[in-house]
Amino acid sequence: MGSCFSVRIKAESPLHHGADPKSGSKGGYDASGTSSTVPSTPRTEGEILQSSNLKSFSFGELKAATRNFRPDSVLGEGGFGCVYKGWIDEHSLTPARPGTGMVIAVKRLNQESFQGHQEWLTEINFLGQLYHPNLVKLIGYCLEDDHRLLVYEFMPKGSLENHLFRRASYVQPLSWNLRIKIALDAAKGLAFLHSDKAKVIYRDLKASNILLDSNYNAKLSDFGLAKDGPTGSKSHVSTRVMGTYGYAAPEYMATGHLTKKSDIYSFGVVLLEILSGRRAIDKSKPSREQNLVDWARPYLGSKRKVFQVMDARLEGQYSLKDALKAANLAVQCLSTEPRFRPKVEELVKALELLLESNDNEESRGSQSEKPRKRYRSSSNDPKNRRSTKEISAGKAASNPKPTASPLRA
Ligand SMILES: Nc1ncnc2c1ncn2[C@@H]1O[C@H](COP(=O)(O)OP(=O)(O)OP(=O)(O)O)[C@@H](O)[C@H]1O
Ligand SMILES: [Mg+2]
Repeated sequence: MGSCFSVRIKAESPLHHGADPKSGSKGGYDASGTSSTVPSTPRTEGEILQSSNLKSFSFGELKAATRNFRPDSVLGEGGFGCVYKGWIDEHSLTPARPGTGMVIAVKRLNQESFQGHQEWLTEINFLGQLYHPNLVKLIGYCLEDDHRLLVYEFMPKGSLENHLFRRASYVQPLSWNLRIKIALDAAKGLAFLHSDKAKVIYRDLKASNILLDSNYNAKLSDFGLAKDGPTGSKSHVSTRVMGTYGYAAPEYMATGHLTKKSDIYSFGVVLLEILSGRRAIDKSKPSREQNLVDWARPYLGSKRKVFQVMDARLEGQYSLKDALKAANLAVQCLSTEPRFRPKVEELVKALELLLESNDNEESRGSQSEKPRKRYRSSSNDPKNRRSTKEISAGKAASNPKPTASPLRA
């Protein structure tokens, strides 16, 4: 259960000295203080709020919907604050009695920082306009005095992060098929963002931002850091690097150059987490194993060694061939050279084939090439939870989350 008193630390640390990270962003929609090489169409706060098809809730309504933000209705806690479970009438969208109407997730920002407000606004700007089965649905928002809240569809199975890294007895490990299906759903969400229709760079792809509905359909959430994608071969040049340490692409961290391929790198990290059941960064491990990508890379292309990376809880559920294909996909996404990373459509295709291949094998009851017994099982410490944060010169900003997110079914 979250204490919900955490403070999101987002110190300004321009990559390029002398740049004013806030220039050009005040009052507009540019959440990150980035200066882009392509002109986007800035809209004022009023325009964003007016043009969205979202419900504007009063603070009182959300207070009533969440039973005064009761601590036992906390679904989880992120860098911005707590997420609460609430109920509204599905037609009038007015507060409803618990257990009746429609379940919602209410994210309450606990800090009145400029940055918090900007990310709140960016979320509304993007999710107010983008609709896709693999993007979490934003229902509305609240802007009243110092209160900033966002109201989402409720995702009953919580985040992928909870499922992969929680070792509580009530959390069943995700099967191989479900993991590949979740990766595929996430890739489809990303494909929509990268498409010409949306032209968005997500910038915050990570396991905690992949949420699961009651049937384990996965949807991307949290667009506070998203950017309108540049066209052609151009890239954004950020004055500050935003994202989450462990997931951000090396060239983006080094130079602030943001392209769709930065998202593909983050996807590779998530895929590796899915395959291994290990966190991108895990400080509880011996030093050479703390960074998942660095540790896993040498094993991923080897028939003999790939099982050392795979989650021990998946044993017997996949063939060596499929393990190698999945590992190879992760390797491609994690290429240091962005050009060598696949496009998102290629990712979708490859994951579809992987899912089909395992389905076929299961239906044939094939005994072929089952994985050998492995030597280690992964363990993860909830203390190592990371949060979206500003990344500066490869160092993680300190942004502890005192509590992990409980699962709600
Ligand atoms: N729509 C939702 N339905 C159900 N649970 C949700 C929903 N949105 C968020 N949560 C839960 O709340 C937790 C916190 O979400 P939040 O987006 O605030 O932070 P985060 O993604 O964990 O971290 P960060 O602040 O670094 O992005 C999630 O991990 C998830 O367990
Ligand atoms: Mg999130």
